Amino acid sequence: MSALFEPLALRGLTLKNRIVVSPMCQYSAVDGFANDWHLVHLGSRAVGGAGLLIQEATAVSPEGRITPEDLGIWKDEHIEFQKRINQFIEAHGSVPGVQLAHAGRKASTYTSWLGKGHGAVPEAEGGWQVVAPSAIAFSDSYPQPVALDAAGIKKVIADFRSATERSLAAGFKVIEIHAAHGYLLHEFLSPLSNQRTDTYGGSFENRIRLLLEVVAAVRQVLPADFPLFVRISATDWTEGGWTPDESVQLSTWLRDRGVDLVDCSTGGNVEKAQIPVGPGYQVEFAERIKREVSIATGAVGLITTPQQAEELVANGQADLVLLAREELRDPYFPLRAAHELGADVDWPVQYERAKPRR
Ligand SMILES: Cc1cc2nc3c(=O)[nH]c(=O)nc-3n(C[C@H](O)[C@H](O)[C@H](O)COP(=O)(O)O)c2cc1C
Repeated sequence: MSALFEPLALRGLTLKNRIVVSPMCQYSAVDGFANDWHLVHLGSRAVGGAGLLIQEATAVSPEGRITPEDLGIWKDEHIEFQKRINQFIEAHGSVPGVQLAHAGRKASTYTSWLGKGHGAVPEAEGGWQVVAPSAIAFSDSYPQPVALDAAGIKKVIADFRSATERSLAAGFKVIEIHAAHGYLLHEFLSPLSNQRTDTYGGSFENRIRLLLEVVAAVRQVLPADFPLFVRISATDWTEGGWTPDESVQLSTWLRDRGVDLVDCSTGGNVEKAQIPVGPGYQVEFAERIKREVSIATGAVGLITTPQQAEELVANGQADLVLLAREELRDPYFPLRAAHELGADVDWPVQYERAKPRR
């Protein structure tokens, strides 16, 4: 029996296997609207057999976009096309999830491949004033943020709540709050980007406050049987930054506030952090949090082979395996993995004649 192809139940939802398409920005939206690209991109990965697809960082407000081309869910008009994508995903046996995001001080940047420029988009070219816990830019080429005031913080929380309501209307079945990669919620967690002196900065309890308030607002509008994930950067990989120990502690708070799974990534808040990148280099964080906190975890980062994915589930290091670039290389990774691991899974009926026989 393959552990990777064991179903996983999270509250009222059952995933058919442990393979997740990790959220990946496509920078292909106009005014936040999904279009045919997103349908085909996500749809083909549903056909490819992943148990869960987490749609790219989807902005809860226009100013929360990384680039002007990000997907968004800040207005009701965004719902209709998202609904169509999600119906397609579900019709093909997968589950649609969404990563709700605010890019904070890393917002208002150019999509690199458009050739319009690099770094900060000026306001004259459609950029906007970015916000952060403190007025500290990510780097010289990034926009200069203003520190959020109390009203601004309230708005962020309300935006996550409204985005959750729209996500429910659009038919998403998993919500992931993006608190990783140096975006707004991670910026509050890390003392390197959060130098506030009010109740949102300083102590550990103060730095995690905004994330906990967002979690509470989101959980409040979710049905009781609906799973909630949080993606964190388990370490800043930098002296004086957010630490693995803090991630363990935070995960306990998240668990006790109705979060079902911690998706363990790292980095993104410090431009020149030294990151020991290699196969499965972030698995240790998923493993430690799962063991020490008794919460489900997702492992991500340079997981590229069926055997590697199988072993980390079989060894109890993580409950879900998220693949990003390997799923771009091969949308049929799950079908291929099932064959290699000897799991008998259904192929799309249209492709049945191509299913390898043992
Ligand atoms: C094209 C691309 C876009 C990405 N966009 C997001 C995103 O929207 N949200 C996020 O949390 N991570 C994003 N990531 C990071 C991936 O989800 C993943 O954590 C990372 O690529 C490591 O996994 P991998 O080695 O399987 O690619 C992106 C990665 C890629 C390659």
